[in-house]
Amino acid sequence: MKIAIALGTRPEIIKMSPVIRELEKRQVTYFILHTGQHYSHNLDRVFFEQLKLPQAKYNLEVGSGSHAQQTAKILIGVENVLRDESPHIILVEGDTNSVFAGALAATKLHVKVGHVEAGLRSYDRSMPEEINRILTDHCSDYLFAPTPKARQILLGEGISKEKIFVTGNTIVDAVYQNLGIAKEQGNTLSSLNLTPKEYFLVTLHRQENVDNPRRFASILKGLDKVAAEFRIPTVYPVHPHSRKRMNEFGLDPKNITLIEPVSFLDFLQLESNARLILTDSGGVQEEACILGIPCVTLRDNTERPETLEVGSNLLAGTLPDKILRCTRLMLNKENKWSNPFGDGKAGQRIVRIITEDN
Ligand code: UD1
Ligand code: UDP
Repeated sequence: MKIAIALGTRPEIIKMSPVIRELEKRQVTYFILHTGQHYSHNLDRVFFEQLKLPQAKYNLEVGSGSHAQQTAKILIGVENVLRDESPHIILVEGDTNSVFAGALAATKLHVKVGHVEAGLRSYDRSMPEEINRILTDHCSDYLFAPTPKARQILLGEGISKEKIFVTGNTIVDAVYQNLGIAKEQGNTLSSLNLTPKEYFLVTLHRQENVDNPRRFASILKGLDKVAAEFRIPTVYPVHPHSRKRMNEFGLDPKNITLIEPVSFLDFLQLESNARLILTDSGGVQEEACILGIPCVTLRDNTERPETLEVGSNLLAGTLPDKILRCTRLMLNKENKWSNPFGDGKAGQRIVRIITEDN
């Protein structure tokens, strides 16, 4: 059998890495198809190098553009590769334009689609990711749900139970596989002059937050209030999308240390030593939960409700006072919760299921 691994952005590379490791270990025939949605070194190559992943056999180099442009280019490029390679199955991970376009191109060619991280829903259709997730799930043949809750969502949408497998989330595998190495290699904190448990870590890049000048400014004001009250540094590795909007809107936060996006090992170090994390990222909400670090989510909804249920995360929205209130609440809680995202063997399960079935 032959497997195509499609990926295109930072979180897909990180979350697909445990699956790729397992394919290597079992010597299964596969190839990596990179869409090129992310191309900057610190959003792309750095993860291949650090996670020791093989080179992509194909890179479609679609780059940035409007949703339609990006999705259409990926659709055409993936179709060409699948026609040449005729794999039995394509695996996609998550909810980006690369994921949906890859799944759609494959299903029309009758190539089976396996969706890693299926069944997540924010129930907010203004998010491009929500559209991508729903459509991908509904053209998939294998739906690898990270949690029983995600499975229930898929069943509720009429997807047959034979297609759904609860595997855990591959981010747990990626964290377990890399945290030790991150700790050993670590000089990230000292290079940024940070003391463990005496700083806040921020990430913010969602389109609905950073493309709206008032919303972006309001969140930054909230972060400023947090910094003023707790008087410890706030570090924000800025996604290039957000950097572009900051420049465009003339936003220049004073009490936040803005840095370039960092590698996965550096980011794991920053996360695991943070006093608290404020974020609008999906993966970062999960990692905070897995690492036992309190999280405040700078959104009105989340497709990771398990984090709210176990008590690792609070939804703060984007208003300054609420961001401050949620930070106070999370800081006063005990950081004791169990990780709902699995045991770190999701990659093994996914590879076992597809190889036994094909
Ligand atoms: C994309 C995903 C989002 C995911 C995020 C992970 C979609 C709709 N969005 O958002 O779900 O959370 O990736 O980080 O698929 N840019 C660079 N270098 C790059 C890539 C992008 O500078 O390597 C800049 C460009 O100015 C570009 C902008 O970032 O216009 C947005 O890039 P895009 O890929 O459209 O979306 P992301 O915000 O990265
Ligand atoms: N991440 C990283 N460096 C950074 C910021 C994030 O390596 O500077 C990692 C983080 O550990 C997580 C992933 O990027 O695994 C999350 O990606 P992102 O927030 O871009 O996307 P989302 O998860 O929201 O789709």
